[in-house]
Amino acid sequence: MNKPATIDFATATAIQIPAAATGTQALHDLVPGEARDSLLAVHDVLCRKLPQDRLAIYEAGGGSCSVLPPELLSRSKVTVVDIDEDQVRNNTYADEAILGDVQTYSFGRETFDLVICYNVIEHLPNVDAALLNFRDALKRGGMILIGAPNPRSLSGVVTKYSPHWFHVWFYRHIRGIKDAGLPGEPPFPTIFHPLVTLPRLEAFAAANGLDMIYRREVESPRYPEMRRRSPLFAALVDAGVAVLNAVLPRGTDVRRGDYHVILRKR
Ligand SMILES: C[S@@+](CC[C@H](N)C(=O)[O-])C[C@H]1O[C@@H](n2cnc3c(N)ncnc32)[C@H](O)[C@@H]1O
Repeated sequence: MNKPATIDFATATAIQIPAAATGTQALHDLVPGEARDSLLAVHDVLCRKLPQDRLAIYEAGGGSCSVLPPELLSRSKVTVVDIDEDQVRNNTYADEAILGDVQTYSFGRETFDLVICYNVIEHLPNVDAALLNFRDALKRGGMILIGAPNPRSLSGVVTKYSPHWFHVWFYRHIRGIKDAGLPGEPPFPTIFHPLVTLPRLEAFAAANGLDMIYRREVESPRYPEMRRRSPLFAALVDAGVAVLNAVLPRGTDVRRGDYHVILRKR
């Protein structure tokens, strides 16, 4: 991200965007695999459990593309808050895009049916403040969808303990994303607040009026992506993973690099 995590909200700007664009990258360019399957299951839960009329959706750290199915987006008013000016400018699907910090930006109580915070909490120093803001902005029965990297996985540990330049190198040379690391382009610096760890997130949610109604750890989409793009590198990583899984307690799979959860406000 280009900006520090603190921002002067005197300068926070709201940009009105005509209408949610169709053809949003609903499945986020995910290659076939567990992450994609889980996102489809998440779509199913949201479509079944959210009210069937017009929805108010808050995408926290929305960036420039949405993980929601077009069916849901097309009947929603979508508000995005993002701290990165370029991300806000490049956003085409929101009805309103606000330059702001999700840890401190607050909406009126019980404003939204759904809050989405996808691949964002790992970048926040105050995850607790952000989650409480999301909860307060939700209507009763409203839901928060969180997607995040699992700090207790191989990719989570590598991401947490490696320097940012390595993330940029990985995105450019292994993932083949030429613009990686340029202003407004991922990867964004990661922090990994303790609440990003799934059991802690679940306990914090339960203590703050939020029930976890969906929880799934999935193989990081980087594995199928690497196998396709860089088979030799992928074979090395797969071999390392097999050794780690063999020596770690039974049932551990360090490939599970990401998770999806849905929290529902009591
Ligand atoms: C990895 S991107 C994910 C974007 C989008 N949610 C997606 O899944 O494509 C992380 C986003 O979080 C935003 N971000 C990071 N810290 C933030 C903060 N404190 N407040 C608002 N947005 C933030 C970044 O600018 C970036 O757009």
